Amino acid sequence: MIKINEHYLKLQASYLFSNIAKKVGEFQTANPDKEIIRLGIGDVTRALPKACTEAFHKAIDEMATDASFRGYGPEQGYDFLREAIAKNDFQARGADISADEIFVSDGAKCDTGNIQELFTRDAKIAIPDPVYPVYLETNVMAGRTGEYEDGRYKGIIYLDSTKENNYVPSLPTEKPDLIYLCFPNNPTGSTITKAELKTWVNYAKDNQALILFDAAYEAFIRDKSLPKSIYEIDGAKEVAIEFRSFSKNAGFTGTRCAYTVVPKECAAFDSKGNRQPIHPLWNRRHCTKFNGVSYPVQRAAEAVYSDAGKDQTSELVAGYLKNADLIANEIKNLSFDFVGGDNSPYIWIQGNRDSWEFFDMLLDQTGVVCTPGAGFGKCGEGYIRLSAFNSYENVEKAMARIKKTLA
Ligand code: MLT
Repeated sequence: MIKINEHYLKLQASYLFSNIAKKVGEFQTANPDKEIIRLGIGDVTRALPKACTEAFHKAIDEMATDASFRGYGPEQGYDFLREAIAKNDFQARGADISADEIFVSDGAKCDTGNIQELFTRDAKIAIPDPVYPVYLETNVMAGRTGEYEDGRYKGIIYLDSTKENNYVPSLPTEKPDLIYLCFPNNPTGSTITKAELKTWVNYAKDNQALILFDAAYEAFIRDKSLPKSIYEIDGAKEVAIEFRSFSKNAGFTGTRCAYTVVPKECAAFDSKGNRQPIHPLWNRRHCTKFNGVSYPVQRAAEAVYSDAGKDQTSELVAGYLKNADLIANEIKNLSFDFVGGDNSPYIWIQGNRDSWEFFDMLLDQTGVVCTPGAGFGKCGEGYIRLSAFNSYENVEKAMARIKKTLA
């Protein structure tokens, strides 16, 4: 008899953003004349940078003739892209990361979801609350949690990120093996200082733990004193894996390209207590389960690092940050407590009511889609998240409607 993985049965309803999309679809069907403005899922709306589309076109032309056609590429990504990443995203910031420590993939969602399979079933997991739901749900699927009770899965060490700690979790009292951190944070938009991040790196070292650092939103950091990579912290290469994405800075949500950094020094332990480097294991997994990102997409991603690409991606990010400023200002005028928006495309708003109720009210009365905070964890209850990923005109319109309804 074929039996299912019963851990899947512990998952709550459907995936957060599928659930929201369904609700919005139903609302649109019931109100076909209402114009909906989406400030919910963090999906970009601006076109790919010209430097990227030019490189994309050129690479497609190469695929059109036998002489320059490419079949399977290296699973880890082409050297041209890995080298551009290492040089521009790390070495230029004083972080000693080499090209062969970069694994190009089709998304940070997949990588942050898949990485957990390198570790034992009984690994103790620490996860921020609130946070991007993928970290928790993939560990539920893998059987690392108990049942769901009162808004939380048993067996997980939740790292509460609340107003009281400025949305940066404190070190846990119970000792974890694997620690997820996400900064600039999704959903709160909060950031971590170098000193705070150093505390986590030291903690991981002292406790033989590993940090999974999701830096998908680093491009939105305006404050130059803040770290964009965990590898700006001394010693992090031994205890941290970092995830990055071209989705938010260069508009690749539909094009799909991201990467994961696994430094050669980074290790976990075998059952005898010996250090085992993670790099060969992730490489092994990647080669067995993944066949690489397409050549044209990798050429388009490489173009992000050309002079024109750098200017054009900065302009895209600046545009979204201008939206974030507008949202933050209007929310402030409405006297809501909020965080984020300054170094992040997300604004996390204390709504002082049930977060799904707030979501329904906003959709019904203004046609604006937000993300209910409870979807990111128990500490998100009472909050909503507004995303700055839309056109300035739409954000202006959305905020005018919200002002009219909530003022
Ligand atoms: C979000 O809205 O939290 C993100 O868009 C989700 C994602 O990047 O997968």
